[in-house]
Amino acid sequence: MIKKGIILAGGKGTRMSPLTKAVNKQLLPIHDKPLIFYPLSILMLAGIKEVLIIVNQGQLDQYKKIIPDGKNFGMKIDYIEQKNPNGLPEAFILGEKFIENQSVCLILGDNFFYGQNLTKILQSCTKLKNGAKVLLHRVNKPENFGVAKVIGKRIKNIKEKPKKFISDLAITGLYFFDKRVCKFAKQLKPSKRGEIEIVDLLNKYLKDKKLSAELIGRGGAWLDTGSIEDFYKTSAFVSAIENRQGFKIACLEEIAFNNKWINKKQLLKAVKFYGNCTYSHYIKKLI
Ligand code: DAU
Repeated sequence: MIKKGIILAGGKGTRMSPLTKAVNKQLLPIHDKPLIFYPLSILMLAGIKEVLIIVNQGQLDQYKKIIPDGKNFGMKIDYIEQKNPNGLPEAFILGEKFIENQSVCLILGDNFFYGQNLTKILQSCTKLKNGAKVLLHRVNKPENFGVAKVIGKRIKNIKEKPKKFISDLAITGLYFFDKRVCKFAKQLKPSKRGEIEIVDLLNKYLKDKKLSAELIGRGGAWLDTGSIEDFYKTSAFVSAIENRQGFKIACLEEIAFNNKWINKKQLLKAVKFYGNCTYSHYIKKLI
């Protein structure tokens, strides 16, 4: 069972400047809560209680104001700073001590997932013991993502942002790795753009025939928050669903409560913490 998860929440967010000059992208709002709540909710739905959040150097205090240490969710949340965005696999170099030679899940701080079967998929992925697993989703513009060519159930080839079409199955920013991941990450060499690349890490598992994939079908949503346009589209999606159903997406206290990680007393504390807002009114209703 995978018990540990990392959220990579650094990056320069240059495509969203000037919004991201003073505030990290993952702290900007998707409808009624900061973007970081959504990837954290995914780890919680997967049953992961120990989380490491990697943030840019100098931005730790901002994050701790909103997500202090996880105790309020019945979890343990640690932070580590990344000096420069040197590439996604750096999560496993910086996080080696946290990982403690165990399997681990990585989610990118700017990825949004939603869908009926999602919790089931997540819980099956955390059963991974050996190898690596990625979640795939069909997209219109595969050239913007890492993509996987799949034949039957087997991954044949993976490529980062291919100029020539090889597949329309994007590799989403949610990955599950066995304990070899730190060792493999340390062997990677920077690519032409000067970063160590997640596809190179995945390729190590592919070569070993130990890379598997799970498909998020068309009933599930995986949305982008890379550009300002996509950011607002994701925000509008959350707003539409929440207003229609009356349920919140990524209410962290609700998930913790349903997981039996916290009790009603802690919900009341959360109401006080957030103050008079729709988010805390929603938590109040749970009590
Ligand atoms: O969103 C899924 C895609 O994410 C995958 O399909 C690609 O294979 C993968 O490379 C990645 O592509 P992006 O171009 O979207 O990655 P980006 O550099 O934008 O980083 C994603 C998030 O991770 C973003 O919130 C910033 C953060 N980040 C990124 C890097 C490189 C860090 O915190 N540290 C880093 O060193």
